Amino acid sequence: MSIKKSITENPLAIFIKMIPTMVDEFWRFAKGNARCGNSGNRDKMLTEILMLTHALEKGFSLPNMRKSFGKEKASKLSVLIEKYISSYGYTADLIVPISLMKKYMEFHKENGINSKELDLISDRIQRITEKYKEICFDKAGSIDKTKEEMLTVAKGDFKTLATGRYSIRNFDKTPVAIESINEAIEIAKKSPSACNRQSYRVHVFEGENKNHILKLQGGANSFSECVDKVILITADLHRYYTREPHLGYVDGSLFAMSLMYALTYLGIGSIPLTLGIKTKNLKRIHTEFDIPENEIPVLLIAVGNYTDSFKVARSERNGITSFTTYHK
Ligand SMILES: Cc1cc2nc3c(=O)[nH]c(=O)nc-3n(C[C@H](O)[C@H](O)[C@H](O)COP(=O)(O)O)c2cc1C
Repeated sequence: MSIKKSITENPLAIFIKMIPTMVDEFWRFAKGNARCGNSGNRDKMLTEILMLTHALEKGFSLPNMRKSFGKEKASKLSVLIEKYISSYGYTADLIVPISLMKKYMEFHKENGINSKELDLISDRIQRITEKYKEICFDKAGSIDKTKEEMLTVAKGDFKTLATGRYSIRNFDKTPVAIESINEAIEIAKKSPSACNRQSYRVHVFEGENKNHILKLQGGANSFSECVDKVILITADLHRYYTREPHLGYVDGSLFAMSLMYALTYLGIGSIPLTLGIKTKNLKRIHTEFDIPENEIPVLLIAVGNYTDSFKVARSERNGITSFTTYHK
C-alpha cells in the first residue's frame, strides 16, 4: 500500500482532518443550544416553556392518568410564562402554553382537586388570561380518538393519513403480527437515501428485550407496559465518507418517518422515542443488544394496536409563515 493511501485510510489521520469541522460544529452547538444563556434569550426561554408544555400535555393522553399529575412542572411553567411576558411582552408563541395551563387548571377544578400550590398557579394563569381577554386560549390538551377513526384515516388519501397520524401512548395489549411489521418495513424501504446507499438498519424488539430497551430509553416510562414492540432505526457508518458524519441521521430519519406512515397505513399505532439520551445508556443499547459499533442509533419507534377509544396529545402546530422564509 502506498504511503498516501495508508494515511488517507488511517483512522487517526481522518480524525485529525475532521477536527476543524467538528470544533466549529461543537462550538456552534455550545453557543446555540437552549441551555446556553437561556435566561437572556427569548427564543431559548421559549424552548423551556415548550418542553414543559409538552411534558404536561402528554400527561392528558396517558393510559392511567394521575389526577394530580405534573404539579411541579405546572408551577414552573406558570412562573416562566409570567417571566417571559415581563421580559419580552406577549407573543403568539404563548398561545399553546397558556391554553395548556388553562386546561390543566380546569381539569383540577372539574376533579375537585385543590391545594395552596394549585391556587397560586391558578392566580398566575388567571392574571394572564384576564390581561389578554381578546385571545382565545383553546389550543392545547388532548383529543379523543377511536380505533375505528384511526383505521379510516389509514385508508384515506395521503393528506388524510399524514394529518390524521398521532403519537400513540395508549395501546391495546394484543400483539402486532411480525408480518405486519415486515410489510411496513417493506413500504418504508422506498424512502430516498443519499446515493441510494440504503444505510438504514432495523432492529425489532419484543418481550423482555422490548422492556429493557424502553427502560434504557426512559421516555416511555408512563406507558411502556402497553407497548407491544419496539423498532430501533440505526444507520451504518460504513456507507459514508469523512464529509458526511451526519448523513446517517438524515437517511435514518427519512426511513423512520416513512415507517411511521406505513404503520399508520396498516392500522398500527406508533410513537417516535428520542435517542438523545445519556451516552452511558446509548452504549448499553449497543453492548447489551449486540448492535455493531459502526451502526449509529437514530430513533426508537414503539408500536402497538389501537385500543377501542383513547386520547392523544393535541400537539398544535405553528402556522407555516412562522417557520418558512421565501428567498426570491
Ligand atoms: C425525535 C423524536 C423523539 C421523541 N421522543 C419522545 C419520547 O421520548 N417520549 C414521548 O412520549 N414522545 C416522544 N416523541 C413524540 C413527540 O412528542 C410528538 O411527535 C410530538 O409531540 C408531535 O405529536 P404527534 O406525533 O402526535 O403529531 C418524540 C418525537 C420525535 C420526533
